[in-house]
Amino acid sequence: MPETASSPRSSSRGPEAGVSEKTSGAWDGRIRGAAAAGGGGNAFPWSNAMLQWQRTGFHFQPQKNWMNDPNGPVYYKGWYHLFYQYNPDAAVWGNKIAWGHAASRDLVHWRHLPLAMVPDHWYDTNGVWTGSATTLPDGRLAMLYTGSTNASVQVQCLAVPADDADPLLTNWTKYERNPVLYPPRGIGPRDFRDPTTAWLDPSDGAWRIVIGSKDDHDHDHAGIAVVYRSRDLVHFDLLPGLLHRVVGTGMWECIDFYPVATTGGVDMSDTSIGTNDVLHVIKASMDDDRHDYYALGRYDAAANAWTPLDAARDVGLGLRYDWGNFYASKTFYDPAKRRRVLWGWVGEADSERADVSKGWASLQGVPRTVLLDTKTGANLLQWPVEEVETLRANSTDLSGITVDHGSVFPLDLRRATQLDIEAEFQLDRRAIAAALDDDVGYSCSTSGGAAARGALGPFGLLVLADRRRRGEQTAVYFYVDGSLATHFCQDESRSSRANDVVGSAVPVLEDEATLSLRVLVDHSIVESFAQGGRSTATSRVYS
Ligand code: FRU
Repeated sequence: MPETASSPRSSSRGPEAGVSEKTSGAWDGRIRGAAAAGGGGNAFPWSNAMLQWQRTGFHFQPQKNWMNDPNGPVYYKGWYHLFYQYNPDAAVWGNKIAWGHAASRDLVHWRHLPLAMVPDHWYDTNGVWTGSATTLPDGRLAMLYTGSTNASVQVQCLAVPADDADPLLTNWTKYERNPVLYPPRGIGPRDFRDPTTAWLDPSDGAWRIVIGSKDDHDHDHAGIAVVYRSRDLVHFDLLPGLLHRVVGTGMWECIDFYPVATTGGVDMSDTSIGTNDVLHVIKASMDDDRHDYYALGRYDAAANAWTPLDAARDVGLGLRYDWGNFYASKTFYDPAKRRRVLWGWVGEADSERADVSKGWASLQGVPRTVLLDTKTGANLLQWPVEEVETLRANSTDLSGITVDHGSVFPLDLRRATQLDIEAEFQLDRRAIAAALDDDVGYSCSTSGGAAARGALGPFGLLVLADRRRRGEQTAVYFYVDGSLATHFCQDESRSSRANDVVGSAVPVLEDEATLSLRVLVDHSIVESFAQGGRSTATSRVYS
């Protein structure tokens, strides 16, 4: 179940990483004066007012209280809709989870709307849990979601807009004969949740949906994806076999399943599932370690089976959407701009006590477009939707900076706390050639973070840094190891209450002369995209 991580602040370490390069697109930031007013932010108790500066400007959050998963994102009659797991009563998760709702014309400016659904029937009285929207061939919508019943059994339920003509989708009607699906034999009553968007299978013209679960019958702690077939989204048949199963990965929450074009094209709706030139992505949110893993593979609809391209990078074993704080994500196909857009829940890294004190908890990451990386053929590319660029109020262009080994180059951004940074790094090829011998086997999480020096790293940016004392900073950096593998890491060990160094190796092709970073800073979040979005890392930063 959702929970906020609370982690002790680790002590600060030795010398710093080098600092970057070219910056553009600085927002006219609000000054972080409130941080100073918060007494450095580490002492408790904080007052609600003192913590308001942590609220974000362009990362979605409700006006107050607790949020977790994005639910049923969809485009309808000119509006983007975002529903989300919401506790209307408190800044912590609870058993009265409802569906919060907001709508937007541009995925950036949001209008908060009344709750879309609340727990008001026996079948969802313990929570209206995560679900997905399906656009029917005639343009109407259907919403499938998990209800936690009065006995805490996980069942699937159907709801539809009360008024199809209302573009704001303000009111929702639950199907009178809910639930439409109970846990099948062999599946635990509390291990059956989060239905996907449905798609039409061209072979029989019927709907398919996927639901996540786990299977421990062989004592192998497997995560599984089960598929149902339906003609009307009311009556469902369980298909024989499993779409996929991965030993050792445990409960799969919030499965997402969608096609990506191998040509790099973006016009891939859910119903493109039978077409050629596609790979299929399975994403599962791993309840065991609270990370979102994906894998690329081939879907055989007739066999009801999906096979990973690379077994070593199967679901839960290799690729992640984000190496930081990012969970329970969900994509939707945007027919207006012919793109697939990803939402993900970014929780807090402070204590529950702090959340209660400030009166709110959690953000959504910026909506990201998702494409297959046709250059590598082996990973996705994620990038902030283009609308985010409309927020740039002014920009500072810095180029031609040489960062020497061990040096830090301060960038004067007038204490902005909202930034859209684009940085490119050109490596000195001679230095690379000279440094090839040792230093192999770097790991973001275990090699000492931004403080550990190698011949070809770390280099990057220090953001939300306290320039004078540098006790506070978040390092976003690359590290090229002796085998020329490039690592993209985010070091939170001096980021107030977080204490991890997160990240992974990022593919860099031989003909790519530069390494690039895009870093979105928005008060208490640092969301970073490396090498055009091949790898991403999101951190919460509090003071
Ligand atoms: C993921 C999750 C889902 C569930 C929902 C309940 O964070 O646990 O599996 O439907 O949150 O809020």
